Amino acid sequence: MHTLRDGTPLPHVGFGTYPLRGEEGVTAITSALEVGYRYLDTAVNYDNEREVGEALRRSGLPREEVLVATKLPGRAHERASAIASVEQSLERLGLDRLDLVLVHWPNPSKGRYVEAVEALIECRERGLVRWVGTSNYTPAHLREVVAATGEAPVLNQVECHPLFPQADLLPVHEELGILTQAWSPLGKRQAQYDAAPVLAPAQRLGVSPAQVILRWHLQRGIMPLPKSGTPQRQRDNLDVLGVELTEQEVAAISALGREDGRLFDGDPETHEEM
Ligand SMILES: NC(=O)c1ccc[n+]([C@@H]2O[C@H](COP(=O)([O-])OP(=O)(O)OC[C@H]3O[C@@H](n4cnc5c(N)ncnc54)[C@H](OP(=O)(O)O)[C@@H]3O)[C@@H](O)[C@H]2O)c1
Repeated sequence: MHTLRDGTPLPHVGFGTYPLRGEEGVTAITSALEVGYRYLDTAVNYDNEREVGEALRRSGLPREEVLVATKLPGRAHERASAIASVEQSLERLGLDRLDLVLVHWPNPSKGRYVEAVEALIECRERGLVRWVGTSNYTPAHLREVVAATGEAPVLNQVECHPLFPQADLLPVHEELGILTQAWSPLGKRQAQYDAAPVLAPAQRLGVSPAQVILRWHLQRGIMPLPKSGTPQRQRDNLDVLGVELTEQEVAAISALGREDGRLFDGDPETHEEM
């Protein structure tokens, strides 16, 4: 369903692990692997890399069957700190190599979002990570990265849901060969489960509104990362390959988008996370 630009296939839906922590978190993440997720999204700042590693071991799945992605925190953009952060993530996860490391937020006022990507490229060259990605990078940040390093991140993980569909960013990603991943793909507290453009196809197809929203992402070429601590919802969120929306239905859901539709004031030009 999705491929990185080197041709590597990625699962149609990945599993978001924030804020799953502690024994309850391990149980929920293990359940996600049991119901079929093969891509786990974590971050240093989620404080749950140990739980992700433990769930992976408990699942008994061969390491190569599951893709594990973590993120570099804003306080570690400087080259040596970034490399140390990746090494610490590997230790917490109990892994020899990460599949992906993403720079979590660009934090433009610090001016090190290119250096952070360069450090991750160095980690890739040292065999610590297979692919380098970004999160919350704007088109300008992405173009600066390409100008400095000669390559674009393989994916950029951004806020994307019916109230904030990222219509302007998608063509830039396509031009640069970047896969779009959606964080808060369901829209979390502001999920549009009762909105007519979501409800109508749900009723027509006999599926849940959440499944319609996830399918909307897929038909736009986006890899969603829904989080659920509930095994039944985990299963439903994965079970969207048989759902097919019409072009008009996709467009009607996209039309729910609003300029001020972000869940919180998470504009990466101004919002910074350390
Ligand atoms: N890169 C970034 O800056 C960034 C920022 C935010 C998030 N993320 C990533 O994106 C992932 C997902 O984002 P998110 O957790 O904010 O939002 P989300 O996945 O859109 O929404 C999660 C919420 O929806 C509920 N839910 C899940 N499936 C459902 C279903 N089928 N029907 C009804 N409700 C359902 C969950 O509750 P239950 O658990 O009770 O099912 C939870 O409350 C995170 O876990 C994290 O990995 C990244």
